[in-house]
Amino acid sequence: MNAAERGNEFIQKAKVKVNSMYRPQFHYTSEAGWINDPNGFSKYQGEYHLFAQHNPYDSKWGPMHWSHATSRDLITWQHKPIALAPEEVYEMDLGCFSGTAIEHEGKHILMYTGCKGPQGGPLEQEQCIAIGDGIAYEKLEQNPVIGAKHLPDFVKVSDFRDPKIFKRDGKFYCLLGAQVFEEQVGTMLLYKSDDLIHWEYVGETLRAPKDGSMGIVFECPDYFRIGGKDVILTSPIEMPRQGYRYNNLSSAVYFVGQMNWETGAFTVEHYDEIDGGFDFYAPQTLEDDNGERILIAWAQMWKRNFVTDELGHGWAGSMTLPRKLSLINNRLYQAPIHTLATYQKEKAECVEALSQHLYRLVAEVDLESGNSFELELLKTNSGSVKIIYDKETKAISIDRHQSLFKLDRHRREAGVNNRRVIQLEEAPTLKLDIIVDKSIVEVFINDGRYTMTSNYYIGSGDVTSVLNTDYKVKISKWNLTL
Ligand code: FRU
Repeated sequence: MNAAERGNEFIQKAKVKVNSMYRPQFHYTSEAGWINDPNGFSKYQGEYHLFAQHNPYDSKWGPMHWSHATSRDLITWQHKPIALAPEEVYEMDLGCFSGTAIEHEGKHILMYTGCKGPQGGPLEQEQCIAIGDGIAYEKLEQNPVIGAKHLPDFVKVSDFRDPKIFKRDGKFYCLLGAQVFEEQVGTMLLYKSDDLIHWEYVGETLRAPKDGSMGIVFECPDYFRIGGKDVILTSPIEMPRQGYRYNNLSSAVYFVGQMNWETGAFTVEHYDEIDGGFDFYAPQTLEDDNGERILIAWAQMWKRNFVTDELGHGWAGSMTLPRKLSLINNRLYQAPIHTLATYQKEKAECVEALSQHLYRLVAEVDLESGNSFELELLKTNSGSVKIIYDKETKAISIDRHQSLFKLDRHRREAGVNNRRVIQLEEAPTLKLDIIVDKSIVEVFINDGRYTMTSNYYIGSGDVTSVLNTDYKVKISKWNLTL
């Protein structure tokens, strides 16, 4: 039995013991065990594929496998066997780290980081390829295809990972996240190839400022074109806060600008945090059947404790819902994937009549008509998660301090059990599109100009939702049923 088969066998036994009390239904989770980053989010032979960083053996991070699932509508996922498992020298013992996928000549190409070394370092991170048919994947004999000898002198193999592979003008390109070793700041490198095996360094794409204001490593790059611009996503480790922005320990950031394909350098016109909630990291994108750009991210954050793991529920980690992206005036807008509408089966009469664990609520608040707005979601005897609009400061916040479980935090992270806030531009209305799925709340604000993703854990007993406001509010709401 190989390593992937062993993982699959373990999952088959573990999945019947999973406690699904907090497990979302519309957000991807693994059948059992741990997941973090989405990987290989792609379209292949008419289906969408989603892989994830996965430890089948525990609900904690461990040797990384790639879980695998497919979908036709990006909402319901069919679990497939584990696609990658650590078994080669170059991925012992930490495993097959994050990466991406493309379709090429009828094959599904996965590109990932083989991470060799003991946990805590020193690590060797080199880039590998596996080729498959949508179910089984074989690692190339020539792996690793990008390694120590391809590095510019300011980067070391200890922080060099998460390849984003794409095709452009008949060539393969790969963007990699890394660290400028001496300055301890993030950087991103561009490579190109004609055959997936021989790779050539093009140049440095983006470097974080020396003062540390953009974190210490760039993880999980993504690249796409939208609205006539080039966009790069990355997840900088320990990006310091700027007011209300970048308040989580690590952040996910988008850069809008222009790429120079000769030098690999990216000219930045604008950048911002992608999501202003508590739990959002390592997003990836694909182009869907309608030519739209769709994003998915891990709906968690590093260096905190994971509630479902601590409770022994047998699973940990989930993705956000897929989101449609658009670019307006260099700002990235996000909307819930349109196929969600298919699952909005019943319209509810009032907020209190919603099914309370699984619903979508769309509200338009007339900001000239009142003074206070507080929406309580997942409300039980022990409290609720609140969406609050503050008229004085024109800020919206999500407050989860009444969650049943308090999270430990890293010393550099503030307010992990309290609030995340977004300062809004002056506008006559506030538009909210909210999706509640068991223990996840996603809030899309003002047509997706801002979003907030957060976990929230309720106690037992009746659950309801309540709107406390004197503003005029137009509301539509639907229970969601799979
Ligand atoms: C981001 C990350 C990646 C790495 C993976 C390991 O969350 O740290 O950089 O490839 O997770 O699981």
